[in-house]
Amino acid sequence: MLKKIFRDDLEKKIRELKKKRNAVILAHNYQLPEVQDVADYRGDSLELSRIAAKTEAKVIIFCGVHFMAETASILCPDKKVIVPDINAGCPMANMITTKDLKKLKAGHPKAVTIGYVNTSAEVKAELTVCCTSTNAIAVVNAFKGAEEIIFIPDKYLADYVAKKTGRRLIYWNGFCPTHIKILPQDIQREKHFHPHAKVIVHPECLPSVVAMADAVLSTSQMGKFAKETEAGEIIVGTEVGLIYRLKKDNPDKEFYPASEAAVCPNMKRTTQEKILWALEELEGEVKVSAEIRSRAKKAIDRMLEII
Ligand code: 13P
Ligand code: SF4
Repeated sequence: MLKKIFRDDLEKKIRELKKKRNAVILAHNYQLPEVQDVADYRGDSLELSRIAAKTEAKVIIFCGVHFMAETASILCPDKKVIVPDINAGCPMANMITTKDLKKLKAGHPKAVTIGYVNTSAEVKAELTVCCTSTNAIAVVNAFKGAEEIIFIPDKYLADYVAKKTGRRLIYWNGFCPTHIKILPQDIQREKHFHPHAKVIVHPECLPSVVAMADAVLSTSQMGKFAKETEAGEIIVGTEVGLIYRLKKDNPDKEFYPASEAAVCPNMKRTTQEKILWALEELEGEVKVSAEIRSRAKKAIDRMLEII
């Protein structure tokens, strides 16, 4: 009971201060339920950046990981983009540096360089074009005439896209430490307990897991699939945070996490308390230099022209 009064009070303070600061709260699909509950918008990384670009608000409280806030800042440099916990990074994005990419590109001077949105702004500045898990196949297909294609940093997303497009891609050895926790035996076990359930997995999963899925989808595509499918039960192979949103949007359906181990610790760093501090102090702003911004924006804009 006391906990509930405390929560209600905290949410009230967040709402009041949000108004006073002319702020909007954006939450990625993997955020804690308490964060999703106070957010004005929930979505995948690109959806949120697009919302950020359109909002009238002066301050954006971006509840996600660092590269997502950077992407928002690239798209709307006049707004103050704040991450409530500045240490919330993405290990996959940190697996490739500008130096690594320059070296890789030097070995393939004619290659088109496609980079997942899960990269730093500096790395994005070195790309031909950016992509997300929703549009990676379309982006690769847009370069049919390319002699070679470098695809960074996720080797499992690259593997999935290579199989789907029939293109040989030059990979980087990056991966998501959260999604690789989902194992084929997890899918087998859940299918055994829920034989009528459909299996949906994120393309960041291991190829052996991807091979067992009925559909391979990004988080936003999973939301759409859940609404449109006639199946009443779904096994979900991605970060467990998405389940909260899927259940809320589809109360008549059952969702089972493929593995309870698929937790992204960085996504769970943000709490309501940290959101309130961010609104009070307006600290933790994510800024991208003008030079990096203009080059990184070209890679994002090129992607937006394709999809
Ligand atoms: P989305 O691009 O679907 O938001 O996912 C980002 C991510 O970090 C997936 O693990
Ligand atoms: Fe990065 Fe994986 Fe966490 Fe997504 S789930 S933010 S790819 S570590």
